[in-house]
Amino acid sequence: MGYNDDIDRMIEAQDLTLPPEREPQRQYYFIKKCREIVKKESERLGRPLYAKSVCMGCQMNARDSEKLAGILETIGYQMTDSEDADFVIYNTCTVRENANNKVWGRLGYLNTYKKKHPHMKIALCGCMMQEPKVIEKLKASYPFVDLVFGTHNIFKFAELMDVVFAQERIPKGHPVMPFGVSQGMVIDIWNETDKIVENLPVERKYDFKSGVNIMFGCNNFCSYCIVPYVRGRERSRKPQDILREIQQLAKDGVIEVMLLGQNVNSYGKTLKDPITFAELLSEVEKIEGIQRIRFMTSHPKDLSDELIQVMGRSTKICRHLHLPLQSGSSRILKKMNRHYNKEQYLTLVEKIRKAVPDLALTTDIIVGFPGETEEDFQETMDVVKQVGYDSAFTFIYSKRTGTPAAEMEHQVPEDVVKDRFDRLLKEVQHGAAKRAQALTGKVETVLVEELNEQDQALVTGRLSNNFIVHFPGNSDLIGKIVKVKLKECKGFYFYGEAAE
Ligand code: SAH
Ligand code: SF4
Ligand code: F3S
Repeated sequence: MGYNDDIDRMIEAQDLTLPPEREPQRQYYFIKKCREIVKKESERLGRPLYAKSVCMGCQMNARDSEKLAGILETIGYQMTDSEDADFVIYNTCTVRENANNKVWGRLGYLNTYKKKHPHMKIALCGCMMQEPKVIEKLKASYPFVDLVFGTHNIFKFAELMDVVFAQERIPKGHPVMPFGVSQGMVIDIWNETDKIVENLPVERKYDFKSGVNIMFGCNNFCSYCIVPYVRGRERSRKPQDILREIQQLAKDGVIEVMLLGQNVNSYGKTLKDPITFAELLSEVEKIEGIQRIRFMTSHPKDLSDELIQVMGRSTKICRHLHLPLQSGSSRILKKMNRHYNKEQYLTLVEKIRKAVPDLALTTDIIVGFPGETEEDFQETMDVVKQVGYDSAFTFIYSKRTGTPAAEMEHQVPEDVVKDRFDRLLKEVQHGAAKRAQALTGKVETVLVEELNEQDQALVTGRLSNNFIVHFPGNSDLIGKIVKVKLKECKGFYFYGEAAE
């Protein structure tokens, strides 16, 4: 019996007289109710109803999208790859302005589809919806959107769908109007929550690997970052709930888990029975069937010696650490409210490399934070040269209204930022290519993830250190761990061949 089968049994057993107060039973009630509506509609149309869930943000957002897809499937929708569907939901991101621009742009397309198929339902959720000015704009200019909710109440998706369905009306004179057209936008945004609702359906993108939330929210308030405002205060899931979920995933055939949190290193601090992230990892390691463990993201200020030790001795924790630098200048790091300086960061890297020599280090860097001078930028370049990252996400600073940095003086002119960005990218690529080159000729274990998109004679997988490799193989290999010889380095990826 898989995870979703167990939940399905509980949904089937749910009494439909009145919605219960308790979660998740309340959601089982609404899932069952919506399921009946979808079934009737599908019978009427003589075809399945199709839904598409689009993830637009980070790994947390991706995991939330799997939960949304889980609810949609349980309700009776068939998931599709096309946005020309009966139900489309965008799980939005707002970490940088261009994330928001993407949503506004795509809503334009959706409106065109919807004009052709007025029964279509459009829903928006996620981080961007937690911003009041976004909701104002939606109400004023995007009336065709049916449902809007935020980051704190995604567990309530089925209940909100029920409200949307209840709102329908058949427009006068329209011969066939499956589901009709909603009378107005259903909007439900919470500012905060301490609720964590367990045991809802999840539709995983991959059979063999899965993200697992270990905590939600963020308390760090880095001065440029909007995440704490849109994801709320930090709250950890209970270790028993996390371990039970991973045990179930292992039973369902998952061999790799990625533990997710904005700052996994502060996991467990606020629980009634506190536990450290390193202790949690040690427990996850004991779960039979799980062969690889990853985690995201580690804040350098909270990375403990205990964690380094656990990584050093573990055979399951992958040889990869994402350790966001943000800036190499101690002066800028202070203004960013990061609570470490350049020297502390470099010392930490040295300590980790000593304990885990084959570790790949990756990072995030922001260029053009307010007041960043050429000297500050050179400090960043210096750290990049000294560390030699295996890869790095580089971002141009984006002003987020409501964050302290948006009010800071000396915003850096666009052309200066662009020039620094280009120089940084070159340095990052140079260092990464050198690191990758050093692996050429080695035999490494690879978890095969998919058929290569361009060339179906190849499969694509990841090394423990997160490097990507393409090698000849077929779909039987997907989800298996195999040994591969890394033959040719192409900068960000390898070509290889099976080594046994
Ligand atoms: N919790 C993670 C990161 C979440 S956001 C951490 O602390 O590392 C992912 C990355 O987006 C950040 O690491 C940062 O580099 C970048 N980022 C966040 N806010 C930004 C902004 N206003 N402009 C540009 N990049 C930003
Ligand atoms: Fe944003 Fe900082 Fe929290 Fe990461 S740790 S989500 S960068 S505030
Ligand atoms: Fe974006 Fe929200 Fe993740 S703002 S980066 S989707 S936490």
